[in-house]
Amino acid sequence: MKGCILKRLKSENTVLSEKQLGKEFDISESSVQNYIHELQEAGYDISRSPAGYRLINAPDVLFPWEFEKREALIHYFPEVDSTMDVARKMAKDHCPHFTVVIADRQTKGRGRLKRKWISEKGGLYFTIVLRPDVPISMAHTVNFGASLSLARILQDHFALHARVKWPNDIFVDDKKISGLLSEMETDEDRIVFVNIGIGINVNNDPASEEPNATSLKSLLGKNVLRKTILSLFLDEFENSLIPSTIPAIMNQWKQYTMTLGRDVRIVTSRETTEGTAIDIDESGALLLKLHDGTIKKILYGDCFIR
Ligand code: BTN
Repeated sequence: MKGCILKRLKSENTVLSEKQLGKEFDISESSVQNYIHELQEAGYDISRSPAGYRLINAPDVLFPWEFEKREALIHYFPEVDSTMDVARKMAKDHCPHFTVVIADRQTKGRGRLKRKWISEKGGLYFTIVLRPDVPISMAHTVNFGASLSLARILQDHFALHARVKWPNDIFVDDKKISGLLSEMETDEDRIVFVNIGIGINVNNDPASEEPNATSLKSLLGKNVLRKTILSLFLDEFENSLIPSTIPAIMNQWKQYTMTLGRDVRIVTSRETTEGTAIDIDESGALLLKLHDGTIKKILYGDCFIR
């Protein structure tokens, strides 16, 4: 109901009385008062005059009702250990495809290769539960689709030169703005779920902890609404997962990468390999041409452009 009242206040840029809202939603005037009070508590700036209520300003909040058509699939938490853990539990409890778990802060945010992902307020942290209808051998395509979608919206809607560094980091001007972590559960030859967790530096300041990181706020010189980024991303990503568009993902991803054609160093806990990144194979592995001319297939690791 809060979402309905808010939507009404947003659509009607005028004053709406308790009587009018109560009648429209078939609730008592005191219930209207309570819902308005709860919205104000949540940070919405709603003024009250004898004529009724007017929405003055909506904060950058990630409540489900902010994502109209997706409301039922959005789960928002002010703070969690990690959205990956919450999403995993929901996935095991049979939540639907494209369920999204969002948090304002994470106390145990996780990055790739067992690293921490510092998750201060102001950033955007979420995990999407996917049940894609693709064979296990194609599961990586979904991750590449996610990083491609994010690079695209940053370029198309914010005029940023966003590029993907293999496997799925997003960089702008050689600084990392976003990282992606994925977890999959399979059952024999079938994907049960693929959970994709994404952290985006939006209005937080990652550079104090990570000198090679940047945020949308520092690139654009102003705060950006996290709900706008998330909505744009979810729409773009959902479109890229339409069965007819999935086969095109890898080739499109190659147009948005900063890795191919570059001399790189790949570091894992076991070894360091240097060479020229020449391609991505059908499994999502990076193909490196080594100094002696042989081709090495890299399945995972940290990639540094030399
Ligand atoms: C990386 O670059 O190492 C991947 C970072 C992934 C961070 C996101 S934030 C939302 C989700 N929850 C987590 O604990 N991690 C991912």
